[in-house]
Amino acid sequence: MHRIIIEGGKELSGEVRISGSKNSAVALVPAAVLCDEEVTIANVPNISDIDALDEILNFLGAKVKRDDDVIKINSSNIKNKLIPEEIAKKLRASYYFMGALLSRFKKVEMYFPGGCSIGARPINLHLKGFEAMGAKVEENNNLFTISADNLKGAKINLDFASVGATINLMLAAVKAEGTTIISNAAKEPHIVNVATFLNNMGAKISGAGTSEIKVVGVKYLHSCFHEVVPDYIETGTYMILASAIGKDITISNIIPDHVEALISKLDDIGVPMQIGIDFIKISAPEKLKSTNIKTQVYPGFPTDLQQPITALLTQAKGKSIINETIWENRFLNLVELNKMGATTETLTNSKAVIMGPTKLKGKKVKATDLRAGACLVIAGLIADGKTIIDNADYILRGYENIIEKLTNIGAKIKLEEIE
Ligand code: EPZ
Repeated sequence: MHRIIIEGGKELSGEVRISGSKNSAVALVPAAVLCDEEVTIANVPNISDIDALDEILNFLGAKVKRDDDVIKINSSNIKNKLIPEEIAKKLRASYYFMGALLSRFKKVEMYFPGGCSIGARPINLHLKGFEAMGAKVEENNNLFTISADNLKGAKINLDFASVGATINLMLAAVKAEGTTIISNAAKEPHIVNVATFLNNMGAKISGAGTSEIKVVGVKYLHSCFHEVVPDYIETGTYMILASAIGKDITISNIIPDHVEALISKLDDIGVPMQIGIDFIKISAPEKLKSTNIKTQVYPGFPTDLQQPITALLTQAKGKSIINETIWENRFLNLVELNKMGATTETLTNSKAVIMGPTKLKGKKVKATDLRAGACLVIAGLIADGKTIIDNADYILRGYENIIEKLTNIGAKIKLEEIE
C-alpha cells in the first residue's frame, strides 16, 4: 500500500505534460485481442490499471511487449480461459474482455468486474446488447457465462448512454454477421479512440462520437499502429489545480475541445485561461466565484471531474451546489475535505453544497476512490501544513507519474510505501 505526503500552501508554476487517456487505454488493450495479427499502441500511460490488463493478456497467452509508452500485443495464439476473479476484480475495465472474447470465440466466462466504489455499477446494458446479438447469458454467483452459436448484427438502444456498454457492444459487433446499430451511444473521446483503433485494423465502424454508431461486421482484422488520445480527465484535474494555486501553469499535449465543459465552468468561476491549439495556460485569480455543477454524459460536465473541482470550490466565495447525476456514491471525498476545514454538506446521494472560501489545514485523510484521491491531492496542495493521503494506490491507478509531474511544478510531495 502507498500513501502520499504533501507540504501544502506553495504557489506552483511550470509545465505539466498530459499522458494518454486511462479510460481509452484500458479499452484499447482488451480490444487488441480481436486482431488476428500483432498491433502496436503508443502513448499508453504507465499506470497500474494497464499492468492489470497486461497480466490478463499474459494469462490468456498473448505475446505482450511493453517499451516505455508503446505496447505491442499479438493475440493470435491466445486461449479462451476463465480469468481468475482476483485479477478481474482489480479494475472495472476487465469487462471489456467480455465483448472481445465473445466476439473472438463466441463464448466467454467472466466474473463481475471491479472498479471504484462509486455506485452499484451494474452491467445489465452490456448483457442486454449481447443477447440482442444472439448470445445466451447465464449468471451464477457473479460468474457470467455468455455464449452464441453465431453473433448477428442487431439494433440496440441503450437505456443510458453508458461508456462501457457502448465500447463492449462495439467490440462484440465488429466481427458479427451483418450490421449493428447502437443508438443512444456514449460520445466520450475514448469511444472515438477505440472505434478508430478498430477501423485501423479493418473494422467498419461509423458514427463514433455521435449517439448512433453503426458497425458492419467483417471477417478479419489486420495489424495496425494506433495512439492513445490525451487524457481529458487528467487535463481537467491539472486545470483545476492550476486554478487554485497556479502561477502560469501550462498544461500541454491536450485537446482543448475535450474539456469544453470545464473551460466554461472555470470561466464562470472567474479563472482567466490562455487556450492554445494543444495547451492551456492558467494562473489562479485573486478571487474565485462559487458556481453550480451538474454532471452529465459527454459533452456535459464530466462526472470524473466532479470530485476534483470540489477542492477548488472550497476556495470560491459563496455557495456552490453539486448535482451528481451519474453515480450514486460519489461524495465520499467531502467527508475528508471537511476534516481539512472545508464547509461542505451532502444533502442526498446526488446533491451536495460547498460554502467558501474556507482555509484548509493539512490533515491525515484517505482516498476512497480514484477521483476522490485527486480531490485530496489538490486540497493538500492548497492547505497550509502537512497532508497525508492514505490509500494512495487509488490515485496511482489513473494518474501517470503524478509525483514527478507535481514536483516539477514546485510541489513538496512524496510517495511512501507502507506495510
Ligand atoms: C466509465 O465507467 C469510466 N470508467 C468512469 O470513470 C466514468 O465515470 C464513467 O464511464 C462515466 O463517464 C472507465 O472508462 C474504465 P457507464 P463505466 O457505463 O463504463 C449506469 C474514472 O474515474 N449503467 O457510462 O462503468 C451506471 O450505473 C472512472 O476514471 C447501468 O445502469 O460507466 C452509471 O449510473 C470512474 N447499466 C451510468 O450508467 C450498465 O450496464 C454510467 O455508467 C452500465 C452502466
